Amino acid sequence: MAVLSKPITEPKSELSLIPVIDISNPESKYALVKACEDFGFFKVINHGVSTELVSVLEHETVEFFSLPKSEKTQVAGYPFGYGSRTIGRNGDVGWVEYLLMNANLDSGSAPLFPGLSQNPATFRNVLEEYITSVRKMTCHVLEMITDGLGIKQTNTLSKLVSDQNTDSILRLNHYPPCPLIKKKTNGGKNVIGFGEHTDPQIISVLRSNNTCGLQINLADGSWISVPPDHSSFFFNVGDSLQVMTNGRFKSVRHRVLANCKKSRVSMIYFAGPSLTQRIAPLTCLMDKEDEMLYEEFTWSEYRSSAYNSRLSDNRLQQFERKTINHNKLLLKI
Ligand code: OGA
Ligand code: NI
Repeated sequence: MAVLSKPITEPKSELSLIPVIDISNPESKYALVKACEDFGFFKVINHGVSTELVSVLEHETVEFFSLPKSEKTQVAGYPFGYGSRTIGRNGDVGWVEYLLMNANLDSGSAPLFPGLSQNPATFRNVLEEYITSVRKMTCHVLEMITDGLGIKQTNTLSKLVSDQNTDSILRLNHYPPCPLIKKKTNGGKNVIGFGEHTDPQIISVLRSNNTCGLQINLADGSWISVPPDHSSFFFNVGDSLQVMTNGRFKSVRHRVLANCKKSRVSMIYFAGPSLTQRIAPLTCLMDKEDEMLYEEFTWSEYRSSAYNSRLSDNRLQQFERKTINHNKLLLKI
């Protein structure tokens, strides 16, 4: 488990900072764009995803994580399956257990749906329904964003996510209460549930129960706690969308701190493109004089490089175009 070497200073609680966006109002498209630029993060209300569906999935998720360890480890696997404490293969650890699944329901290859729930069929059905519904909402949000950006073809982003070969993932996370936080031997330090990182895909959609823990990093480097809201969805811009907007949108750094009393259960839908999709700044968003800040790559290349890195690495750095600063410097001479 990861214990922070020094106590984390209490994060700012400028909670009203987090944009809350009503996506049933078409005019919210501009607020969405602004939120992606300022924070790379926003909360969505009036989203149209059934509350009952979400509660049933939460119930099934809690049931799954309540199973004996020996049963859960029967579906342990990489990259999909059950995992505990270890995140990825490069030494990251956290106070968390999780279940990772392929969220492409169109793919011929059978997606991984664990068969260990008391009622596996219910779990599978509710997962499928949830993915379908959240994907629809995600496409709607992406279309509003594209419209807000003034891109004529409003499916420019949503079509990547609804592509039949979309490489999208659903992740269920469970952060058990962490007794260590209270122990004197720990010196009052916080314990990391999920270490700081950015999500590599296009956009991620998070729903959690009412337990706090999620924090986002602001442009000035400070962290703020995100007050949980089980009836809303939180969106964060992923690295790929940062690249496609040539750095205009920010892929937000975020992390989860463990809680001493309550468990946190979260479900995150990572909307990704197909493996062969080329990721590059969209020319329709660029003026003639704008320089591309990133080298082009395919999602498959980026995904491999993300799988081979540590959570906190700046994974986009190696794709930044080296010539930029050089040219700018020359201009200044
Ligand atoms: C993630 C993530 C946050 C949470 O899985 O990428 O950021 O609340 N999770 O579980
Ligand atoms: Ni994340």
